[in-house]
Amino acid sequence: MYNNWEELENSIKNCKKCKLCIERKNIVFGEGNKKANLMFIGEGPGADEDIQGLPFVGKAGQLMDKAFQGLGIKRQEIYITNIVKCRPPLNRVPEDNEAEACLNYLRNQVILIKPKIIVLLGSTALKNILGKEYSITLSRGNWIEQKGIKYMPTWHPAALLRDENKKVEFWKDLKQVVEKYNEINY
Ligand code: URA
Ligand code: SF4
Repeated sequence: MYNNWEELENSIKNCKKCKLCIERKNIVFGEGNKKANLMFIGEGPGADEDIQGLPFVGKAGQLMDKAFQGLGIKRQEIYITNIVKCRPPLNRVPEDNEAEACLNYLRNQVILIKPKIIVLLGSTALKNILGKEYSITLSRGNWIEQKGIKYMPTWHPAALLRDENKKVEFWKDLKQVVEKYNEINY
């Protein structure tokens, strides 16, 4: 546990705690407002994120940005990161041992940011944060409160690229998030 960002970020830069370190080009630490009330957690970097070292800059990220624009969410106001900080080869789902190895970094980020709302993007984020018993299909769209943080599980933006219905549901879920966020910031 680090109590400042510099130490935390430096410890991640050289991390070799799991085998995802082998093929990564860059670590994707996370980006945004370090005092955000609203945080988004994805799965892990894809090819574009691995090259740029930034979260959600590829196709899925562009789709998410469109939703953000429509809903009035500004990227610089929020914080975005992932369950694992290094790209899983071929974009496979991170293995449990990889997620476990990386999760303390995310916990440390959450402790430093102290967000009031966390959006869990897809099954990997949901299961690793709230527990393996949760299903994204059953949980999405419903608030889950734990230790003073309100969690909203929703589809991973990459899933929207394959399914129009999910776009509508994603929008609805984020609409609920924006309403709650505005209440909190009021
Ligand atoms: N998918 C993710 O889960 N995270 C990213 O940063 C990009 C794509
Ligand atoms: Fe370390 Fe996380 Fe990268 Fe694994 S994914 S090497 S635990 S930073």
